[in-house]
Formats: sequence, structure tokens, C-alpha cells
Amino acid sequence: MVTTADKKVTVNKSSSKETLLTPRFYTTDFKEISELDISSNKSEIEAIVEEFRIDYNRDHFIRDKEFSKSWDSFDESTRNIFIEFLERSCTAEFSGFLLYKEISRNLKKDNPLLAEGFSFMSRDEARHAGFLNKAMSDFNVSLDLGFLTKTRKYTFFAPKFIFYATYLSEKIGYWRYITIYRHLEKNPNFRVYPIFRFFESWCQDENRHGDFFAALLKSQQPLLNTLQSRLWCRFFLLSVFVTMYLNDLQRKDFYSTIGLDARQFDIHVIKKTNQSSGTLFPVILDLENPQFFEYLENCAKANQTLIDIEKENNLEIIKIFNKIPQYLKMIINLVSLYFLPVIETKYIWTEKNSKV
Ligand SMILES: [Fe+2]
Ligand SMILES: [Fe+2]
Repeated sequence: MVTTADKKVTVNKSSSKETLLTPRFYTTDFKEISELDISSNKSEIEAIVEEFRIDYNRDHFIRDKEFSKSWDSFDESTRNIFIEFLERSCTAEFSGFLLYKEISRNLKKDNPLLAEGFSFMSRDEARHAGFLNKAMSDFNVSLDLGFLTKTRKYTFFAPKFIFYATYLSEKIGYWRYITIYRHLEKNPNFRVYPIFRFFESWCQDENRHGDFFAALLKSQQPLLNTLQSRLWCRFFLLSVFVTMYLNDLQRKDFYSTIGLDARQFDIHVIKKTNQSSGTLFPVILDLENPQFFEYLENCAKANQTLIDIEKENNLEIIKIFNKIPQYLKMIINLVSLYFLPVIETKYIWTEKNSKV
């Protein structure tokens, strides 16, 4: 829910509607995480926790005078584009904060090292969410985070799925922020709002969070060296890439406002994240295969048609009937994507004690 200071208003109906692509809140089996034996990679985890402790960004998220400018010069559509971007980003950061905080709280007694790592990460995510929420106030709106905490539905994910998914979302977050930052560094005329200046150090937080999950995954070898793990890594790589691609293509206007082509931006981020994952996962996707982006584009087209059908002024039953072929198209292309040949990475921790 988005509220102004004195009255509650929904700023953007389409953004507040729950879909599969909306940022979600997660919960997991805390007991299972607290019982993990991390001894095989303890020193790497300890080193990352020590880095978290240094807290490089302690004084980074301080609003300077550039924020005090008035943003009333933004036209209505640009303003809405920015509010939606800030709202989605804030929700995603806040969702990370809640999950990490809960994990940390539940691990304190039985797994203090992991509890500390999660606690530092929740500190960072709280800062990110808070900074974005402050930015929303520049546009006279704010997210009621307490309300969001209580009313949002929580999706349960088993710990191993949380590890794969959050590793990838941290790394993809890093590549998204750094790509926007580097682009605006070269093209300052598109830096229409000061928050982008903060992305360089900000994305280092996400990169470190990703490294923490990588270290944690490496301590659980069966999550990286079994046939099952190969299938899951493939699944999560694909899910994260498809979700981002479909989301961003619906928000091309935001990217063009800052001088980026959403499609090119996503292709770049997908390639970089896939490459980063190659240092951890037993397999990565073969993005040089021209069929990959062809199938992905087919999914995006089907998704756009589904959105268009939803907007039509038709009876619900006709809408459902019109949607069926698009859902089928989406499923066929997703399955085709999943079964494209992958690239074996052959990392040492994926080979040792292999059960395949
Ligand atoms: Fe974050
Ligand atoms: Fe993060």
C-alpha cells in the first residue's frame, strides 16, 4: 500500500496488483538452516562475515542537497514511472531484510556464525529499503512497511531453494545496479534523479551478499555436485532471467527515461549474471545459442498478449478463453528453454565427492 502523509492512496493500480512477477516475501525452514554443518567451508564464510563487520557503506546512504531539489518538473508519466521503480525496488529490498532478519533471529542459538552473517545482510537491506522509501517521499508517497509486513502473503521456500534463488537475485541485483551506474557515469544527462549516484557502493553490498550465499552453498556440496543440483541450478537461472526479462520489458519507459534500451540492458545483465554463476554452479546456460533469446522473446510476447487481453473490455470467460493459447505458448517456450543444452563449469567443489 502506498500512502501520502495524511491520506492513504494507491498510486499505481497495476503495480499494486499481485502477479507471478511481483516482488514476493519469503519464509523458510529455519530449523533446517540452523542445523547445517558448514565446517567444510567455515573459513570462507568467516572471512565474508568479517567483511560485513567492516561495514564499508555505513556512511554511504546519506541524502545530500541534490535531493532537496523539487521534482515537480517531472511530467505525470515520468513521475509514475519513477514511483513504480522506487516502490518495486523498495519492496524487494524490504523483502530481503525481513527474510534475513528472521533467519538470523532463528539461528542465533545453534548457528551463531550464519546468524551473524544474516544479521549483517539484513542491516544492509534495511538501509537500502529505507533509502528508497525516503526517495519515494520526494514524490510525496511512501510505502507503509509495517502494513506491508503484516498483510503480504509469505511464500514458503525450502532452504536450498532460498540459497539458489537469493544467490542469483543478489548477483543479478549487483549487475543491474552497476550497469545503470556505469551507463549514467558515461551519460550524465540521463541521470535525472540523484539516487543512481549511490548505486556504485550500493551494488557492492549486493555482491558481498551473493558471495555469502556462494560460500554457504559451497559448504553444502550436494547442493552443487549432484544430478539433482544441476537440474535445480538450471531451473533457478532460467526462472530469475525470465522473471527479470518479462518484468523489464513491461517497463521500457523507465529504462528509456534513463537512456537505456530495456531489452539490451537485460541481455547484458543476463549474460553477466550467467557468467558470475559459472564460478559457483555446476552448469550455466548457453546464451550464445541463438534459440535462447528467441524462446525468451516468445515468452515476452505471450506475456504482453496476456496483459493486453486482461485490459480488454470483454467478459471474463472470453478473456480466459483468449488467454489459453498464450499460456500454452508460454509453457512450450519455457520448457524448450529448460531443455536447451547447458555449459558444464567443472569447478572443483562440484567434482569432489560427486554423487552423480
Ligand atoms: Fe539490497
Ligand atoms: Fe542484498
